Amino acid sequence: MFRQDFAWGVASSAYQIEGRDKEDGCGKNIWDTFTEEGRVYENQNAYVSCDEIHRYKEDFALMRLLGIRAYRFSLSWARILPEGTGKVNEKAIALYRDMILEMKKNGITPYITLYHWEFPQALQDRGGWLNEDVIGWFGEYAKVVAENFSDLCEYFFTLNEPQCFVGLGHLSGVHAPGKKMEIKETFQIAHNALRAHGQAVINLRKYAKQEIKIGYAPTCGVAYPATDSKEDIEAAKKVYFGFYNPIDNWTWNVAWFSDPVFLGSYPKEGLEKYKEYLPKITKEDMELIHQPIDFMGQNIYNGYPVRAGADGEPEFVSREPGFAKTAANWPVTPGAFYWGVRFLSERYHLPLYITENGMSCHDNVSRDGRVHDPNRIQFLDEYLSALCRANDDGADVRGYFLWTFLDNFEWDKGYNERFGIVYVDFATQKRIVKDSAYWYQKVIESNGKELGMNKQETPILFLNPVFTHNIWGGTRLRTDFGYEVEGDDIGECWGVAAHQNGDDTIREGIYAGKKLSQLWKEEPGLFGNVDIDRFPLLIKIIDAKDDLSIQVHPNDEYAKVNENGSFGKTECWYIIDCPENASLVIGHNAKTKEELSDMIHQGRWKEFIREIPVKKGDFIQIDPGTVHAIKGGLMILETQQNSDITYRVYDYDRLSNGKPRELHVEKSIDVITVPAKSVEDSVKSAAHVEKNKLNELYSCQYYKVFKIELDGKMEFEQEYPFLIMSVLEGDALLNGQRIKKGDHFILPNGYGKVELQGNLEIIASTI
Ligand code: BGC
Repeated sequence: MFRQDFAWGVASSAYQIEGRDKEDGCGKNIWDTFTEEGRVYENQNAYVSCDEIHRYKEDFALMRLLGIRAYRFSLSWARILPEGTGKVNEKAIALYRDMILEMKKNGITPYITLYHWEFPQALQDRGGWLNEDVIGWFGEYAKVVAENFSDLCEYFFTLNEPQCFVGLGHLSGVHAPGKKMEIKETFQIAHNALRAHGQAVINLRKYAKQEIKIGYAPTCGVAYPATDSKEDIEAAKKVYFGFYNPIDNWTWNVAWFSDPVFLGSYPKEGLEKYKEYLPKITKEDMELIHQPIDFMGQNIYNGYPVRAGADGEPEFVSREPGFAKTAANWPVTPGAFYWGVRFLSERYHLPLYITENGMSCHDNVSRDGRVHDPNRIQFLDEYLSALCRANDDGADVRGYFLWTFLDNFEWDKGYNERFGIVYVDFATQKRIVKDSAYWYQKVIESNGKELGMNKQETPILFLNPVFTHNIWGGTRLRTDFGYEVEGDDIGECWGVAAHQNGDDTIREGIYAGKKLSQLWKEEPGLFGNVDIDRFPLLIKIIDAKDDLSIQVHPNDEYAKVNENGSFGKTECWYIIDCPENASLVIGHNAKTKEELSDMIHQGRWKEFIREIPVKKGDFIQIDPGTVHAIKGGLMILETQQNSDITYRVYDYDRLSNGKPRELHVEKSIDVITVPAKSVEDSVKSAAHVEKNKLNELYSCQYYKVFKIELDGKMEFEQEYPFLIMSVLEGDALLNGQRIKKGDHFILPNGYGKVELQGNLEIIASTI
């Protein structure tokens, strides 16, 4: 679980939300220039954006209402120092101080980022990050920040994502200042940025008015293992901290940007690989970069799977067709969160904040005036669950800053991508809280307990039946029901079974391959946590080509004593199909125990057996102690206690493998009820029940049995501990999933609303 003081926050950056006004005294920065040059999507700019400099009061109030407790935001360097150095813009100081006070008034802890990409244009004109003077410039800016805000704020981050502003800004040129520089120059820029970070740490501490805590917020796609094998984990780690990128894309690197800051040296592998491009790196430089730091930040959005190849070397694994993506086309990879956090913690041994994580979606205002963003909720749920697991497995995770609160100016993509949990109508500046924000609120309030991982998953549990071969069995389970099973003596399909003589496995989904008996033990919540030591029911389809033996079952008390603790067997049948003039055996004609014993011992079967006519759709309840037998030609769905105890009274003198099957005459006489229950009490027709309804056919202490005849649509609430269903005819959609004849499945506890549409016949049961 997350720590009690976990910082549940949102993140933003100054340029992406602030906007400006003519009187604010803000200096020009490289993104102003970049947008003026028309290098952003549809010529858009951020002169208004979310108009945050005028609307922060309302926005912080909204954060409070949504229970957000921490806010990572950035200061605009050129707003504070319009020329980058020198004269301070007092209006900016006043603005940011008021913002911080307002945050605090709303119960929000401020986390300040010094640099989130809007480099002052005046300093860009003097060479920008390539000029080594930037170390002094950034140091001066840090001093001004410490002097003016450290009395109000305890937490600071120096740089946001140097990988991006070095690479996208100076190598590929898709971000401001839009340069495509020599590789060598970009190494100089990176080295300068790291030194500037060190200088900022020194000055923040030196000029701070109280004890402050400082971190750093790099990023990178995460190499995560394709499987949990030791080899794949090692391979992924090797790539994550290694140097696998081509040189013209070298800046996407973890170790190069983090080892110097956290460990005090550039990684050896990189020093070797990049030697021809490196600037002069001195001992003093490394000391400057390696300032004591309180925590690491990391922005993680996604990653890529890696495995160990045959030669032990890492191999990149391609994503499956149709893999989940964000609106920005970034892959959805919660595994990256788990493994990234673990790998970073193991290497750097520092407390960690996720300084950014989130998802862009094509959000839209619905007719109800709200913004429904289920994809974002799912994304956040999976990522936060992964984070929680990484934390449980040893990483020291202190906080999470969701990117981002408001939809905003997404750099070169302009307003084309929406990352917010609050929708912004850029024409009117109206804010609409998206569903994801309400969801996040619940997660915060429960300190993570509301995450999916902490809730019982309730998927439909489809089962792989087990089949038995019997002397009286036929082929209809294959020919009518389509089960793939060989032989012409297939007697029984154990559609829902968790018995030692036949234990079904789960067919698909998160529990795929698990035995039903195992699931019953491991996930009792799926079955309503009922206090029974084994799965209580057994559902079979029986195809009797020939007559079954005349038999009887014991009750619980008898079975417990005489059958090794087994359940007794109460059962019932629903006749799926039978010929005209079909019959079966139910009950007997003996009036006393003595007569019963005589009839059996003397083989007076004609007198003894009570055979009755039956029709398709009949429902027959068979209490323990009831003599019964299924006759040839019948196809039956049987719902019974989870037991396999049968006492054979008479087997028509048949031979199986040349020998008569075992009879259990004395035990039968022990358990047979005398006199037998009347026929009327045992049999009723269930051929026609009310359509589109869960109709109860029978209820006893062991089970309730229902029939559904679906013709069109129906819905109901699954409110039983669990509900077993066997489809006997037709097909339909159950909450979007196709079910068809021959399917057996369980709707677990808490499954909720069941919507069915189609045409089918189901026998359902529960306890
Ligand atoms: C940046 C943000 C950006 C987000 C989404 C991060 O790399 O720090 O400024 O909006 O990604 O692209």
